[in-house]
Amino acid sequence: MSVDVNDKGPVRGLEGVVAAETSASYVDGIHGRLLYQGFDIHDIAEQMSYSETVFLLWRGRLPTRAENDAFRSEIVAEMRLPSQVVEMLRLTPPHSHPMSVLRGAVSMLGNFDPDAEDISPEANWRKSKRLLAQIPTIIADLHRVRRGLPLLSPDPNFGIPANFLYMLRGTPPSDLESRAMEALMLLLADHELNASTFTARVIASTLSDMHSALTGAIGALKGPLHGGANQRVMEMILDINDVATVDAYIAGMLETKKRIMGFGHRVYRTEDPRTRHLRKYSELLCASTNQQHLHDIAERIEKAVMDAKGIYPNVDFYSATVQHAMGIPPEYFTTVFAAARTAGWIAHIIEQYADNRLIRPTSRYTGEMGLPFIPMSDRVA
Ligand code: COA
Repeated sequence: MSVDVNDKGPVRGLEGVVAAETSASYVDGIHGRLLYQGFDIHDIAEQMSYSETVFLLWRGRLPTRAENDAFRSEIVAEMRLPSQVVEMLRLTPPHSHPMSVLRGAVSMLGNFDPDAEDISPEANWRKSKRLLAQIPTIIADLHRVRRGLPLLSPDPNFGIPANFLYMLRGTPPSDLESRAMEALMLLLADHELNASTFTARVIASTLSDMHSALTGAIGALKGPLHGGANQRVMEMILDINDVATVDAYIAGMLETKKRIMGFGHRVYRTEDPRTRHLRKYSELLCASTNQQHLHDIAERIEKAVMDAKGIYPNVDFYSATVQHAMGIPPEYFTTVFAAARTAGWIAHIIEQYADNRLIRPTSRYTGEMGLPFIPMSDRVA
């Protein structure tokens, strides 16, 4: 086989490869910094709402109060689904994973969107708001359909995070839950060129439509090395169930070379700046629901993994106990991540359309060359 001497080989996992430009978010993995459009994630987490954050990601600047109020109302007004999509939720078998249902439902939404095939900036702006609104409704409706509960309409007095909780559970969130849900969604809203965002950009780069790009992104997020980790974190915490057994449980997993879900990151070499906020909400919410032991187990796992491997928790770790304490079932955790990350996916899709070049890398061929052809009659097994 002839070898191209200039071929330095693939960069495994594209680690460190700069494959796009973005102003949406900046991750400094060495110093543990995260910026959205130049603003520090700690300021955003402590002082902003999810709708303000989405406006910032999409428009590149902070909204005024009037702009934010109008934006939030416009999105909440788009939270209803076409009846055919609700029917599709009813038709899915009860064992199918909510992420698989969401992937199909977002694809199906594209068939009913009047702007589906139009990728002009005006149509994309309308679709952006619609998709941001409809995805939480798909999740809430699926949950209620599967429990035989009546579906609920959004409350115009709530924003998207509170409406999501209300439409999922049927009870309005407490002040603490509202704030925690806002924080969870804005912390998950964007994270530069993660695997699902890259997927969305690749699809957009073919000039395919926004529903296609989001459908692909949801598929990428579903995997346990990406957004699918949060469900597995909760399953592990519930499986441990007793803080006294954490150290032995973690040691056993590491001895058998199992990965601890919710730990490790491709970019961060120090604590993920989002952890501090999620840890705080985990503690507050677990205490307020008499589930302090679950937060205690989580903190003990954090210590055990740090002591044994020097690895930090990632955003999926404490987002698990935060969601659990708000009554969201673990199999829905990754769908909540998808609902929140829709903001970032859309920001990147719009950036890709605005300065597009087909994303089409190349690969190193590892097969044979120039083999003599064998007619069917001469082939042996
Ligand atoms: N548990 C145990 N060991 C881990 C680990 C984890 N969660 N994450 C990384 N490591 C170890 C690897 O075993 C490897 O050790 P080695 O060099 O001794 O073999 C080293 O850390 C580097 O891991 P690698 O898989 O090369 O890092 P990556 O950048 O490719 O992977 C993740 C990043 C996120 C995929 C990885 O950390 C992981 O699988 N985490 C668990 C899943 C998860 O929480 N995903 C959500 C990400 S936000």
